[in-house]
Amino acid sequence: MIFDTHAHYTDGRFDSDRDALLSSMRGKGVGLIMTLGDNLKESRAALEIARRYPFVYAGVGVHPSDIAELDDEKLDALRSLAADEKVKCIGEIGLDYYWNDNAPREVQMNGLRRQMALARSLSLPVVIHDREAHADSMSIVREFPDVRGEFHCYSGAAEDAKELVKRGWYLGFGGATTYKNARRALEVIAAVPLERILVETDCPYLAPEPFRGRRNDSSLVSEVVKKIAEVRGLSADEVERATYENGKRFFNIDDRGRLK
Ligand code: NI
Repeated sequence: MIFDTHAHYTDGRFDSDRDALLSSMRGKGVGLIMTLGDNLKESRAALEIARRYPFVYAGVGVHPSDIAELDDEKLDALRSLAADEKVKCIGEIGLDYYWNDNAPREVQMNGLRRQMALARSLSLPVVIHDREAHADSMSIVREFPDVRGEFHCYSGAAEDAKELVKRGWYLGFGGATTYKNARRALEVIAAVPLERILVETDCPYLAPEPFRGRRNDSSLVSEVVKKIAEVRGLSADEVERATYENGKRFFNIDDRGRLK
């Protein structure tokens, strides 16, 4: 059974067949799905999807690309959404210095800090997006020693990964691990305890090989599981079982609603 720990089923690319696609997950080896909001509107929509499907859970948060919208009112709205029992994390939040039209670094860092503080007050884990912002992301993690979280699509060095593991954090890996330039991610996968690895799609983005460029969905996490199994010298079954349990533990999910 697979736990896709990072999906965006609110994305417009699922508008034409969202319900049919989610209903089809039965029989494709997918047991649980975490769908994440990138802004307040998407966070509301993510929760709506999670309420409709017992095997889907939601994260609420404002992504660095939308961080300019995060004011006191929106933070309160996130807090109210997070009170729902289907919301299991604050995410997707983080820092993204790749895109020039994103908000200035200080604005992004303050927005991340406010959402880390929200997660702390709610005792929820966080899901971090870190693109070209690794040093600042790590320094904010260190500012909040009592917040646990995950770096999704982890792109940092093995040394930082080990520090995150020591701090109780998890590392998420998706389709990018199957690409030709994945050497660094594979080194990290080999260097951290299996118990701290989560698998994800980031769908509709980042479809794994041999489906790269197509719309991604949770059924394709199996390609990521295969890659991790290869790197760790384990069977795909063992990796699937371990990462499923890791996801349940990380998000504090009991899986009565899982697909069978
Ligand atoms: Ni994402």
